[in-house]
Amino acid sequence: MNTQILKINPQNPEKDKIEQAAQVWRDGGTVAFPTETVYGLGANALNEAAVKKIFEAKGRPADNPLIVHISDFEEVDRLVENIPAGTKHLMSSFWPGPLTIIMKKSNIIPDIITAGLDTVAIRLPSHPIARSLIKVSGIPIAAPSANTSGKPSPTIAQHVIDDLFGKVDIIIDGGPAEVGLESTVIDVTGEIPVLLRPGGVTYEQLRSVLGEVQVDPAVLSALSADVVPRSPGMKYTHYSPNAEVVIVEGEKEKVIHAINRLVEENRRKGLKVGVMAVDETASLYHADCVLAVGSEGQPQTIAANLFYKLREFDQMGVDIIFAQSVKEQGIGMAIRNRLNKAAGYNIIKV
Ligand code: TXA
Ligand code: MG
Repeated sequence: MNTQILKINPQNPEKDKIEQAAQVWRDGGTVAFPTETVYGLGANALNEAAVKKIFEAKGRPADNPLIVHISDFEEVDRLVENIPAGTKHLMSSFWPGPLTIIMKKSNIIPDIITAGLDTVAIRLPSHPIARSLIKVSGIPIAAPSANTSGKPSPTIAQHVIDDLFGKVDIIIDGGPAEVGLESTVIDVTGEIPVLLRPGGVTYEQLRSVLGEVQVDPAVLSALSADVVPRSPGMKYTHYSPNAEVVIVEGEKEKVIHAINRLVEENRRKGLKVGVMAVDETASLYHADCVLAVGSEGQPQTIAANLFYKLREFDQMGVDIIFAQSVKEQGIGMAIRNRLNKAAGYNIIKV
């Protein structure tokens, strides 16, 4: 397939380019585009053949449902059976923004979107390119992250090019994604809302608006094989780079000591070893490749850099990565969730 790369100004999207990409969506094609979380691969959510192209390009398992993206609050009504009490307030608090809300689906949503579930995931992104593109197209847009299935989500256009060039119609380059991790996913179909995936909107923020919020057990610990996850995507263990990832957790001095020892052990085995550090500790590690994800005190920066750095380790041909963990508060919950998955829950406590 001939893939066109389209550079668009994220502050002030050029109208002609937006119209061109929107037309590809109307014609049943695929367009990768920036959102405030990560890059998405979009197609007309109401066109089954178009949505199928997304699954094919990504190599995504058919049992993993997609998020439907909209550009205005009013569009929700026809996509869901009903909006539960309290959910309007949730929407006005965090939309447009990095929050995905799961509600009972209406019958205009094709089964391919929901993988046969009776619920649909909906998100109103805030990124100017995403919003104007969806608005101009006039259709709801199904969009998973624009990576090959299993790889870390793309935070810059080059990541999308690396994974999907030749497999999609257009890749828009709109600069780096701000949040760097996928949206928070919350299920509001039950009595008490359930957090299924932590992301840009934090658990603490959700609690402040909703009162009680349950955290799905799959968020921070490995699911045992006999449990059916509420969010199908959770059973896929990785957002993983090619390298093996091992998390080392505990008191700072001990972590540094343990990682340096592990680095030595693995280098002696002939492996190329990476360490994912923070700015404050980077100079204390002695590995083939040490990358800092940001300052300890700035978890937003760490979130924004995480997937980028995981891909960078791969480019450097690292075999194994030892990673420091982060605190669970705020966006830290999302960082830990993605790191744990990248590591397949291989966590060493020291
Ligand atoms: O930030 C984001 O959410 C990005 C950008 C492009 O918007 N999109 C994204 O989509 O991360 P994706 O497909 O990579 O992740 C969607 C997650 C999956 O874990 C999927 O299983 C879950 O949402 N999901 C979708 N529909 C669902 C449903 N009806 N019930 C439960 N989980 C659902
Ligand atoms: Mg994804």
